[in-house]
Amino acid sequence: MFTEAMRESIKKVEATRAERMATEPRRMTAEEKDELLKSYHPDYKAEGFVEIKIGPNKGEKIPTELGNLLHSNSRLLDVDVDLTKVDYETDVLVIGGGGAGSSAAIEAHEAGADVMIVTKLRIGDANTMMAEGGIQAADKENDSPVQHYIDAFGGGHFAARPELLRRLVMEAPDAIRWLNDLGVMFDKHEDGEMVTTHGGGTSRKRMHACKDYSGAEIMRTLRDEVINRKIPVIEFTSAVELIKDDKGQVAGAVLLNMETGDYMVAKAKTVIIATGGAGRLHYQGFPTSNHYGATADGLILGYRAGAPLLYQDTIQYHPTGVAYPAQIFGALVTEKVRSIGAMLVNAEGEAYAHPLETRDVSASAIIRECAQGRGVETPLGSGVWLDTPMIEILHGEGTIEKRIPAMMRMYLNYGIDMRKEPILVYPTLHYQNGGLEIGGDGFTKAIDNLLVAGEAVGGIHGRNRLMGNSLLDIIVFGRNAGKAAAAKAKEVELGAMNLDHVKAYAEELKAAGLESEQVSPLLLPKYARHER
Ligand code: FUM
Repeated sequence: MFTEAMRESIKKVEATRAERMATEPRRMTAEEKDELLKSYHPDYKAEGFVEIKIGPNKGEKIPTELGNLLHSNSRLLDVDVDLTKVDYETDVLVIGGGGAGSSAAIEAHEAGADVMIVTKLRIGDANTMMAEGGIQAADKENDSPVQHYIDAFGGGHFAARPELLRRLVMEAPDAIRWLNDLGVMFDKHEDGEMVTTHGGGTSRKRMHACKDYSGAEIMRTLRDEVINRKIPVIEFTSAVELIKDDKGQVAGAVLLNMETGDYMVAKAKTVIIATGGAGRLHYQGFPTSNHYGATADGLILGYRAGAPLLYQDTIQYHPTGVAYPAQIFGALVTEKVRSIGAMLVNAEGEAYAHPLETRDVSASAIIRECAQGRGVETPLGSGVWLDTPMIEILHGEGTIEKRIPAMMRMYLNYGIDMRKEPILVYPTLHYQNGGLEIGGDGFTKAIDNLLVAGEAVGGIHGRNRLMGNSLLDIIVFGRNAGKAAAAKAKEVELGAMNLDHVKAYAEELKAAGLESEQVSPLLLPKYARHER
C-alpha cells in the first residue's frame, strides 16, 4: 500500500525507534510554543479571515467561509411564511439531534416539559457520533475538578470564560455517572473501576473511553433514551430562522422540510440551539474529521437574531487526521493513539516534539515539519509518521486491537496494518472553539429564552480545547440547557410572533453594500447533491 519513497522513510522510523523509546522528547517552553503558533497555526494566517461587516460582532475577525455565510441572505427573504399557522407547539424546542440536543431533550422531558427535537438529518447524525478518544472527568482519587480546571484553562490560553469552565469541570463526575447509569459501556478494569488515560495537556489520567468509539457509544445510549421517552423527533427538517415575538423574546423557529421543500412554523416558549460545529466549511481548504452536517447553522440563526459570537476566530485543527491513503483523507486518528504510546516522527525518523503537547501546538509542529521539507510526500500533500508499532512494543501484543480497534480496522481496510507499520497523519479541521456567547446558566445574553449547548457555544474552552472536553461539554451544557429551558418555559408568556429581525438584517446587509447571491444557513456542504 505504501509507495517506495514512503517505505524508505519507514526504514528510518524503524532505525530510530529503540533510541527514541529510551529518551522521551522534551516539552516545549511557553516561548517556543508561542513562536510556533504564530508561525504555523492556521488561526494566524491573515488571508484565511475577513472582517465582520454587520451585527453585534461588527469589526471583528472571522474565518472567510463563515463570514461569507454571515454576510448572506436569509432563505426566507422572498418567502411568505404565515406565522399564524402554527405546525408545532411546544415548551422547549431543541434544534439539533446530536449529543447536546439529545441530553437537553432528555433533561427537559425529565423536568416535565413538552419538548421536541428538530434535526436536519437523523437523530445521532452529528459530530458526537464521530468522537473517538473519550470524555474527561476528574473522578479519581489523585485528581480533582480544580486540577481539571487548571489544565483546561492553560490549554485554552487562559481565555475560557471562568463561569463556563467551572461548570464544565465541576459537573463532569456527575456527567459520567449519568451516562454510566443510562447504559454507556465505558472501559472498566475487572473490579469495575473505569479505565482512564492521559490526553494532550492533561496532568492526570482522566480520559474515560469506550475503546475508540466513545462518541458512537454515548450517542447510541442518548438516542435510545430519547426514543424510549417518546420525545418527538422531527427528522430531515432544518431550522432556517428563529422567530421572535413582539416583546423581542425568542418564540420558535421556521422549519424547512428537507425532502419536500415546505416551510413550517414551530412555536416554543424556549429554544435551545444545539447545532454543532463547522468542519464542513473546510476553512483554508483543510479536510475535516467532522460530520456531513457540520455547517455552522446555529451560529447563523443566532447571529441574525442578534446574539453575539465569542472567539469565532479560533478553530481547532486536530493534529492527526489521516494523510494517507486518499480514500480516508482527513478522517480522525484519535489522540488516544498518542496517549497510549505512539510518537510523532518526521520523514527522517526524528521525534521532533512531545506527542502530547496541546492540539494547537502539536498541529503547528506537524505543519512546520512538512513546510520545512521534513514531511513525507503523499498524493494529496504531505504528512508525518505516527509510530503506532510502539504501542504493541510498550504494552504488549494485542493492545491496539483491544484499545483502538476502530483505528486498526479503518487502516486494515486499505491494507495498512498499524500494529506493524506506522501511519501517515496531517492536521484536519476538527472543532470550532468559538460560537454563540452564553452565561453560566446556558442562556444567551442578548435574546430572552434562547439557550445554546454543545459545539455551537463559544467560550467554554477558550482559544484551544483539550481532548475529551467536548464530549463532556455536550453532556454538561446539554443537560443544563434542558433543565433551565424547562424551568423557564413555565413562566414564559408569548406575544405575537414576527420575523422583523430577518428583515432588519437584510436592510443592514444592503446598507453595508453586501450583495450576495448566497443564502444561509448552508444546511449541507457545498458539494452536497441536491436531487429530490
Ligand atoms: O482525538 C480524539 O479522539 C478527539 C477527541 C476530542 O476531540 O475530544
